[in-house]
Amino acid sequence: MSDDKLPGAHGATEDGLSHASGEAAVADNPFADPGLPAHHPRRTDIDERAAKRAERQVSLLFVTSMLATVGFIASYVAIDPDKIVYIFPLGHISALNFALGMTLGVALFCIGAGAVHWARTLMSDVEMPAERHAIEADDEVRADVIEQFKTGAAESGFGRRKMIRNTLIGSMALVPLSGVVLLRDLGPLPETKLDHTGWDEATPAAPIRLVNMNTNEPMKPEDITVGSLTFAKPGPSPLRPEGLQDHDVDFQEAIAKDALMLIRIEPADIKDDKSRDLGFEGVLAYSKICTHVGCPISLYEQQTHHALCPCHQSTFDLSDGARVIFGPAGHPLPQLKITTDASGYLVATQDFAVPVGPSFWERSA
Ligand code: FES
Repeated sequence: MSDDKLPGAHGATEDGLSHASGEAAVADNPFADPGLPAHHPRRTDIDERAAKRAERQVSLLFVTSMLATVGFIASYVAIDPDKIVYIFPLGHISALNFALGMTLGVALFCIGAGAVHWARTLMSDVEMPAERHAIEADDEVRADVIEQFKTGAAESGFGRRKMIRNTLIGSMALVPLSGVVLLRDLGPLPETKLDHTGWDEATPAAPIRLVNMNTNEPMKPEDITVGSLTFAKPGPSPLRPEGLQDHDVDFQEAIAKDALMLIRIEPADIKDDKSRDLGFEGVLAYSKICTHVGCPISLYEQQTHHALCPCHQSTFDLSDGARVIFGPAGHPLPQLKITTDASGYLVATQDFAVPVGPSFWERSA
């Protein structure tokens, strides 16, 4: 586009608007180029001291970014990964994660803020028109396209066959409703269903044995060796004399809440006293269902006692009450209190104290 089509480029008035030529152009063509507004110099364009001050501010932001990066590296080296601090309003969180997040955040923010401040105060802000060809096709092409469209509409019978036209419009209008109906899959809310599992049938008078998920055999503490990971489910109870069986109609639903991970840790290595008391001679029984969105956890690292959820990498320290040490899970894995019966088999005498599974929003614990 040539300059004579850009009234604002050299014809704009003090109020930043192009007038006579622009109004005439708009009358002729509703898409006429409105032109560029008048250019107003910034303070930093006319005041060298203001420009110097802006330069120092930009440099200060970049220097702050450098210091934050040094802080990031120092935090990584100096802060104990297991150190927990209380930070309002986040609660108890890893000191290392907090320091790394803050320093990296400040470093990136300062680079971005410095670049924006530089661009807004010191870089040239004079607008430049870019030449390009006219978008509008010539009259001959436009007439040809309109003719083709009319021919196509006539041949398809869209205007003549009103029944097809109306039913097509109706079907197109209704099809988005399918997406609205699918919203139902976001519910229903679990309400209190996760507050109770199959273990709630257990009482001190009628304990339920822990049964090996693979062998269907009840287990004794000596069957659980240090470093191993064993999966368990509820054995026989007064309400379920056969115990939870694979062929039960409700097996999948029940196992999704009842499944346990059994590990054994030297009692002296268990950091959380409450967790040690819920176990039996170092044997600990945790819910196998991840507290993020409910994937079954199956990876255990015996040296660190960390359990890893394969779905989104939430990591739980099973030696410390299954505390979340990494990932999106919002709660520790619930732990089932276990003991032994008169025959020496591992049993539960009560349900989990907190709901198992995902951290749904109305959850109370
Ligand atoms: S379901 Fe376990 S981390 Fe997401």
